[in-house]
Amino acid sequence: MWFMLGALGCGESAKDSQPPDSPGLTETGDTATQAPDPFVALPDRSGGLTNVSEDLDTILEHGALDGACDAWRAQPDDAQKRLLCGKWMFFYETFGTEEVPRALVDFVLDGFVEDVGPAFSSYGLIPDPSSEHGYPLGMALGPGEEGLAFTCASCHFARLPDGRYAVGAANHQYDYGTHNLSMALLPLAAMESVTGAEVDELARADIQPLLDRLAADSSLQISFLGLLFSLLGKEAPTFSAESQRHYAEWLPGTQDFMIEPLPVNDEVHTVSKISALYGLPTEEEAAAAGMAHAMLGWTGNTRSLAGFVRLFDQLGGGDGPNFSDDQLAPLVDYISSLSVPSPPPADAEAVARGAAVFVDAGCLGCHEGPGGSGLTLYDYAEIGTDDALARWMDADGDGEPCCEADLGEDTLTGQLKSPRLWGLWAMERFLHNGAVGSLEELVCLDGPRTPITTPAMSNDGHLYGCDTLSDEEKRDLLVYLRAH
Ligand code: HEC
Ligand code: HEC
Repeated sequence: MWFMLGALGCGESAKDSQPPDSPGLTETGDTATQAPDPFVALPDRSGGLTNVSEDLDTILEHGALDGACDAWRAQPDDAQKRLLCGKWMFFYETFGTEEVPRALVDFVLDGFVEDVGPAFSSYGLIPDPSSEHGYPLGMALGPGEEGLAFTCASCHFARLPDGRYAVGAANHQYDYGTHNLSMALLPLAAMESVTGAEVDELARADIQPLLDRLAADSSLQISFLGLLFSLLGKEAPTFSAESQRHYAEWLPGTQDFMIEPLPVNDEVHTVSKISALYGLPTEEEAAAAGMAHAMLGWTGNTRSLAGFVRLFDQLGGGDGPNFSDDQLAPLVDYISSLSVPSPPPADAEAVARGAAVFVDAGCLGCHEGPGGSGLTLYDYAEIGTDDALARWMDADGDGEPCCEADLGEDTLTGQLKSPRLWGLWAMERFLHNGAVGSLEELVCLDGPRTPITTPAMSNDGHLYGCDTLSDEEKRDLLVYLRAH
């Protein structure tokens, strides 16, 4: 596994190496036979772990994640132990990020199970069968056990449409906005008349069933008083009505991390769709394809997985920049080991026809790298999609990151990447802000898209193929896209 570590750490700069066989196909009209295949099967790097399965207990390695990092530290040369430690981190490490008070989580989970579901499953989280407290995978107790914080698994672990669970799949079922309102807004809205806190109407409507239940149930009201008592002395986070509204507006699978009540606020409303984490190119693969580096994040600004975790942690109020590559290595190694889940069977002839459309329609010109990722970044104006993200972390547009953020070796790009296209069959939202709800809609198979004009959430742009392909070509193209 060490070679992979080297591949993802900050070793030799990928920029200096010459792409040996850069595809160079940027024109339309090439035939599929000459074209490079962006979906070359990836080697199995799973190291004997199970990351795709119908059985959740198998995914959780039948209890072997518990204590996995201690076991690895005792035997640091054991590659499988290291991966198991990384997998534990993926599911349970909170990295010191901001916590939701445990009493609040327990109050909502115990008192409102009809509304939020066991372990918040009504909001799309997956219950952790090994949690004695009924917590979901993706929310874990922090070191002091006084609060819960998010782990990678909340957003990057999902159930596929065929019923299998897959680590690394984007959890587009997860209604992060409403889930957070159920914890952060519930006490504010319930106490509105006492505190005079401003509550946004749309946000209130999102959690109205919980407010109604609280108003109708006197024993729940007593627990609520107990909760307020336990929160006494804790500073309530700022949560303006405007920010509340954004939480209510976000579609499942989408969110903004730099907004109240989270610790770092960039004062720009942006909406990002959760990405899948499988099929990430190694540094060698990225360099061989001609990419400058891993180009992580929708803005393509992050050079390495370790850098991404440091950034995520920093935005979550943790100690991000101080995490060393060594500390993050098991997690980085583990994420690099995730394989793309096998797609459902498809008609081979339609796939072949679709592959030719992908080339002829010019898709390959921007999706020619590993797994269909692009090799460069694009301006929003060129692609025509929502451009709010251009000002992410940079409200004044001076190119410098706001909020005293430490991006390490990374810089802001103000641009957009062309994403990997693995696992599209298992995705429910498309484009960087998730504004498009199906691949059919993306290629306008049922006619022009119904416009959405809400700032940061608009669905215009990336109209490639919409007016140039026949319905038959579009259908073949979608069979091809869903076959990887
Ligand atoms: C609450 C949801 C959430 C949690 C928790 C979360 N992510 Fe993400 N992740 C996202 C979203 C949304 C994006 C897309 C953000 C963007 O690029 O603008 C993303 C993007 C990424 C990417 C970039 C992928 C690519 O191809 O560009 C990586 C890598 C990643 N996350 C790793 C992690 C790791 C590792 C963790 C745990 C330490 C984590 N994420 C926790 C929601 C989440
Ligand atoms: C000029 C470059 C360019 C061309 C041509 C192009 N794409 Fe894209 N593609 C992008 C970029 C950039 C994005 C990200 C856009 C965004 O999210 O706002 C993207 C996004 C996508 C997505 C969404 C993936 C996701 O996870 O949401 C799909 C699917 C896709 N492209 C398929 C195609 C197909 C099929 C074609 C040909 C009909 C095509 N693209 C042509 C650059 C291009």
